[in-house]
Amino acid sequence: MNVRLLFSITQILLLITFLGATPLSASQKEAKSIDELVAMFDESQCMECHEETHSEWKNSWHSKAVISSLKGMHNFIAIGLKKEWETPLTKAQIMKCLDCHAPTVKYASEELAVEIGNMIVTAHKMKGTKQGDAAKKELAKLNVGCLSCHNIKAGAVARGLHGEPAPGMIYGPEGEDADDAHETEELVDITRSSFCMQCHGKYKAADGETIQCNTLSGSYQNTYVAQGGSQTCQDCHMKKGHTFPGGHDLDVVKEGLGLQVEIVPYGHLPGTLKKKVKDPKKWIPSAVVNVFIANKTGHRIPDG
Ligand code: HEC
Ligand code: HEC
Ligand code: HEC
Ligand code: HEC
Ligand code: HEC
Repeated sequence: MNVRLLFSITQILLLITFLGATPLSASQKEAKSIDELVAMFDESQCMECHEETHSEWKNSWHSKAVISSLKGMHNFIAIGLKKEWETPLTKAQIMKCLDCHAPTVKYASEELAVEIGNMIVTAHKMKGTKQGDAAKKELAKLNVGCLSCHNIKAGAVARGLHGEPAPGMIYGPEGEDADDAHETEELVDITRSSFCMQCHGKYKAADGETIQCNTLSGSYQNTYVAQGGSQTCQDCHMKKGHTFPGGHDLDVVKEGLGLQVEIVPYGHLPGTLKKKVKDPKKWIPSAVVNVFIANKTGHRIPDG
């Protein structure tokens, strides 16, 4: 066996191990630990070929959708469920928040989902302690990741039509051939506003409870679209790719506010001009200033 052949065999072996190490498997099995869950839907697998998209996403609020909302979720679990409604923490209850803030938890076991709920409480209540910080570090692994959108939620608006997502399938706007990297299927749903509205709007939980975490898509539909607005959420929010700028981005906030200032100068004369008065009142230059602040977004602002 010559050296060159040996080299190429090593290369092939390397390639096989490499492919084996990056399974794009979003199988239907239930994860028993956060690491198992992350392995099923790991966005770091996508980084290697979609580097720019990955770093855009990493800088977006979608990548921190659990740890940025810890206080609210703590209140729901530790005050709402426990004290006010005396309801046990179950997977079905925690999904009332995480179905939008970390859709992958759908594939967690009942025990893991409850453990995640308890970690949320610990991370907020024990903030700054070793235990609290450790919980937060684990929770930082949960978010609205690539596969939350490109697999789990891609066809969820019309679940009856599309059925459950196929494990490992990437649903995208074009269904562009990704060679052997992953299977890809075109699903136009993901380019429509209704795709975003399933999370940025009213939510109907499995037990029928309606949760309104934010109200934005109501005004999009009832005010913007009703008055002839034709741009989609994606048109306005994906101009810079996957960073999804919004109210935390000053440039976008400025873009959303139309400022028009109208100034009408005039002379103002207080009192009267009686000749006998020693120091007659003078004309004082004045102005009427009208400021019009317009909302140029596709919905009411601010949201929340
Ligand atoms: C799986 C649910 C989900 C889907 C689908 C989703 N989002 Fe989000 N989005 C969230 C959550 C949760 C947050 C809040 C994250 C946070 O505050 O950390 C968020 C945050 C944002 C923000 C940042 C808001 C701010 O305050 O700066 C924008 C903008 C945004 N989303 C736009 C979109 C658009 C446009 C779409 C559709 C292409 C979309 N999202 C699809 C769940 C979702
Ligand atoms: C229908 C999907 C959905 C559900 C269900 C949901 N949220 Fe949200 N949540 C969002 C989206 C989208 C945003 C971002 C809104 C925005 O920026 O306009 C958000 C924002 C938040 C924020 C503010 C985050 C920030 O960065 O300031 C908190 C806190 C929050 N949610 C807590 C909760 C809690 C607690 C629950 C469960 C009781 C819950 N959410 C259920 C979609 C949802
Ligand atoms: C909040 C939902 C959401 C998340 C999270 C998300 N995407 Fe997307 N992605 C979209 C939407 C919507 C489109 C289609 C935009 C359009 O064409 O209207 C898209 C388009 C794409 C495309 C097609 C080309 C392009 O850039 O438009 C690629 C590739 C892609 N996403 C990769 C990724 C990767 C990799 C991640 C994770 C690092 C990711 N996406 C995370 C919603 C998302
Ligand atoms: C080995 C390289 C590779 C890896 C790893 C990879 N992709 Fe891709 N992907 C591609 C190529 C090549 C294309 C087709 C050209 C393009 O759109 O960039 C593509 C296309 C896409 C598209 C567009 C599909 C459409 O409808 O046009 C999406 C979305 C996408 N990938 C998401 C992902 C996500 C999410 C991951 C991680 C789970 C991932 N990719 C991992 C190579 C890869
Ligand atoms: C015509 C363009 C346009 C359309 C259409 C549009 N947006 Fe916005 N959106 C903006 C601008 C500009 C801002 C920033 C204004 C601000 O927050 O002050 C914004 C802000 C946001 C925020 C942050 C709100 C906050 O209070 O921090 C979210 C979330 C968001 N949009 C999601 C969506 C979703 C989801 C849709 C579709 C249902 C949508 N947008 C449609 C332009 C648009």
